[in-house]
Amino acid sequence: MSSTPQDDRPAASMPDTRGADIIGPRNPAREAQDPFTLRPPSTDKGTIPNLKWSFADSHMRLEEGGWARQTTVRELPIAKEMAAVNMRLRTNVAREMHWHKEAEWSYVIKGKARLTAVDQEGRTFIADVAEGDLWFFPGGIPHSIQGLQSDLDGVEFLLVFDDGAFSEDSTFLITDWLAHTPRDILAKNFRVAEAELAHLPSKERYIFPAAAPASFAEDTMAGAGPVPQSFVHRLMAQEANRMPGGSVRIADERVFPASTMSAALVELEPGGLRELHWHPTGDEWQYYIEGEGRMTVFGAESKARTFDYRAGDVGYVPYAMGHYIENTGQEPLRFLEVFRSSRYADVSLNQWMKLTPPELVRSHLNIGQSVLDGLSKDKHPVLPPGPQPSGGV
Ligand SMILES: [Fe+2]
Ligand SMILES: [Fe+2]
Repeated sequence: MSSTPQDDRPAASMPDTRGADIIGPRNPAREAQDPFTLRPPSTDKGTIPNLKWSFADSHMRLEEGGWARQTTVRELPIAKEMAAVNMRLRTNVAREMHWHKEAEWSYVIKGKARLTAVDQEGRTFIADVAEGDLWFFPGGIPHSIQGLQSDLDGVEFLLVFDDGAFSEDSTFLITDWLAHTPRDILAKNFRVAEAELAHLPSKERYIFPAAAPASFAEDTMAGAGPVPQSFVHRLMAQEANRMPGGSVRIADERVFPASTMSAALVELEPGGLRELHWHPTGDEWQYYIEGEGRMTVFGAESKARTFDYRAGDVGYVPYAMGHYIENTGQEPLRFLEVFRSSRYADVSLNQWMKLTPPELVRSHLNIGQSVLDGLSKDKHPVLPPGPQPSGGV
């Protein structure tokens, strides 16, 4: 708990005259993960919708050598702009050749995989990806994913789609299409006798153990040349914007031009704060990779609600709502902020206040000049733990 003496937020161990003990049924394990749901800070108010989902509560689709689970509007109804799938493929296990209407943005959580795609001009794409890499496939572009040999036996990754109603179970699969096309048409289309198609799968494969891939060079197809912009971005090779309290890496059209979606990978030291801000372009979809954190979302009309998150959880911030994220654990907190917009954008409360005439700001908030002196005209998305020294810096 990172509460400070100035902090009036209740902690579970703090005496509090509000409320009373629970004498009915309890779920202590669940309560322990959500202390600020059990005892919300006094600043929380009103009916902000639920902004938290844990992949641990998602249905697991188990297949031979892999699994998939999803967080969509069916799990988290407020998440209308984006949905996500968490998927695991063991070595050589393939996510079947497929496409879908939605754009697919991905983060490799652990392990290694090989990707392939072909675009509408017949240009090819192949890449091997590892932890921290991003990929992006535009809507309608066919692609495949295959787990590669690694000390983790394949790969686990996160997929974020630009429509909250997306379903991983309703993508366009090559086996499914061929199983539902008359065999004589297939024979005509492929210019072969029907007998040569006798062993086509009768239903979709989706996730299945495939033959081991050839070498990267052998799998690089000759054809109309490569896609003009890589569908992969090596996020960890990108220099982080480091500052006291943590770091930020922003991946948007400026460094990953193939992607129509953008993201930030944020790391907060224990007690560090992702400063109060909002996003002027749309909803924010969050994935917590490591550690424990807390977010309060302000929704206007005096509404605010606080949520606790930990590794494996999903958070969501509706368009324009103000929020902060605090690392409440003992370890670093790492999370992704993902957006449907191609350019990352946020508005900093501190910067807004610093760049507005000070007398005007002071007369709004009844604060001394020292508060404004402590702010910076530059944006500091991450702030270190603890208050500034008295009188600012
Ligand atoms: Fe896909
Ligand atoms: Fe944000």
